[in-house]
Amino acid sequence: MYKNVLVTGGAGFIGSNFIPYFCEKYPDYHVINLDKLTYAGNLDNLKECENFSNYSFIKGDICDTSFVLEVFEKHKITDVIHFAAESHVDNSISNPRAFIETNVLGTFTLLETFRKKHKNSKQNRFHHISTDEVYGTLGETGYFSEKTAYAPNSPYSASKAGSDMLVRAYFHTYGVNVVTSNCSNNYGPKQHSEKLIPTIIRHALAEEPIPIYGDGMNVRDWIYVIDHCKAVNLIFHGGIAGEIYNIGGHNEQNNLGIAQKICEILDQKYRRKSGSYCKLITFVTDRPGHDRRYAIDATKLKTELGWKAEESFDSGIIKTVEWYSCEQRVVERKLTV
Ligand SMILES: NC(=O)c1ccc[n+]([C@@H]2O[C@H](COP(=O)([O-])OP(=O)(O)OC[C@H]3O[C@@H](n4cnc5c(N)ncnc54)[C@H](O)[C@@H]3O)[C@@H](O)[C@H]2O)c1
Repeated sequence: MYKNVLVTGGAGFIGSNFIPYFCEKYPDYHVINLDKLTYAGNLDNLKECENFSNYSFIKGDICDTSFVLEVFEKHKITDVIHFAAESHVDNSISNPRAFIETNVLGTFTLLETFRKKHKNSKQNRFHHISTDEVYGTLGETGYFSEKTAYAPNSPYSASKAGSDMLVRAYFHTYGVNVVTSNCSNNYGPKQHSEKLIPTIIRHALAEEPIPIYGDGMNVRDWIYVIDHCKAVNLIFHGGIAGEIYNIGGHNEQNNLGIAQKICEILDQKYRRKSGSYCKLITFVTDRPGHDRRYAIDATKLKTELGWKAEESFDSGIIKTVEWYSCEQRVVERKLTV
């Protein structure tokens, strides 16, 4: 079946891993990537798509109502996969407004346009990409399931929770064909350098202190980004309208353990005269409201849609370190010539 799929935020980390995978898998679909190109968007991440005949890029803001309507009409948008967001928790603490605008108002603008165009058509789907951070924090045991009550603790997670509620309301009020997926922390190539894993690699290779918040014991359930992309594809095509699907790698790691693992990989690849990169690990003042532990129960996604994580953390983190090391070396070369 022919589709014109609007992918928002496709120049960001997850979107730019998703688009090449999706375009290659569905040559009959046309993917229209709508991205504002904020500091977090980078078209270099999509170089491999430049020759795809089923891919187009449009620069623009999902909060701009008349522009979004024009995109829907001009490109005869049939479906939406909505990644665009302000995504960095630290930035949400220093500048929450942008998070409310893009994550809440932007999602509202897309939903409203989609509703006007497609009403409750079963052929047209709106897939909202969200996060496990909406569930708040866990103690030492237990998992977030789709039935866990929302308890967001940062302006970022509160704005994502708000957008999830709008998506829910558009199903219950208007019958719009929506699905929501709430995923745990992603890692892999193309992530912005502000995030934890790229920061660790960048600081280590630059021989700078590697900053780790608090005692480093905050736990996240890490998933390789391509495993997330595959889950999105399954949910987009096979998820039940109005349902939520949790996505997680069943791979709990604390921040200190991740930093140590990365340093050990770098020790093997780029031996340091002054001893292990681990010596660069430095504890810094904790982030306010820092959730202690996230862990996902992905049973629903596995049993209903047959998904499973394919990448192990040991192999995924090596690939990731290699990708950023290579990137960093290219940047350093550019700076010295
Ligand atoms: N990264 C993770 O670990 C993770 C985990 C779970 C869920 N998510 C969710 O996945 C989605 C993508 O995350 P990411 O890590 O790729 O984010 P990112 O910050 O890397 O990318 C976001 C993209 O959205 C674009 N954008 C921002 N504001 C926009 C606007 N107003 N209009 C159009 N485009 C805009 C940016 O230019 C950027 O390309 C987000 O919704 C995020 O909440 C991320």
